[in-house]
Amino acid sequence: MKASRSRINDTYQAMREHGYEIILDERFLILKSFVQHRTSNTYDHCLNVTRIALNMAKKFRIKVDIRSLVRGCLLHDYYGYAWRDTKPRWHGHRHPRLAAENAKRDFGINALEENMILGHMWPINFFRFFKSREAFILTLADKMATLEEVFAPRGEYEGYRLKLRRAELL
Ligand SMILES: [Fe+2]
Ligand SMILES: [Fe+2]
Repeated sequence: MKASRSRINDTYQAMREHGYEIILDERFLILKSFVQHRTSNTYDHCLNVTRIALNMAKKFRIKVDIRSLVRGCLLHDYYGYAWRDTKPRWHGHRHPRLAAENAKRDFGINALEENMILGHMWPINFFRFFKSREAFILTLADKMATLEEVFAPRGEYEGYRLKLRRAELL
């Protein structure tokens, strides 16, 4: 099926409209208990990536499948363990496959969303190319969010967290 694409008018409205069913699901809320980067847990990180991806598409007026962009971004790190504590081997290479399997089982993702999740670690997973603009936007947004979360000032109400809280997303 061909994706139907349009421009984004309001990042947070799009996140609420297409993301609440995932964000409020108790299986997704577990991600709050996993440390992701210096100032973020995995839940915060997934929402932050979604915010940045939507802002990017909006700013550059890129037509996207808005629902799939939201869902693929939210679920890209839905692999379901605390990587900082357990330090599994090859986490960087293996976690996209796990996240895609979990997302398919729990949220019934479509092919576009699956490809976004599988390809988000490019270029670490060099041969798993993204096949869509949504997947490319996710790979960029993931790296930007990581930098933001690593270098953000500590404090619950600062930076990306404050923006998400104001939008009733955290
Ligand atoms: Fe990831
Ligand atoms: Fe990520």
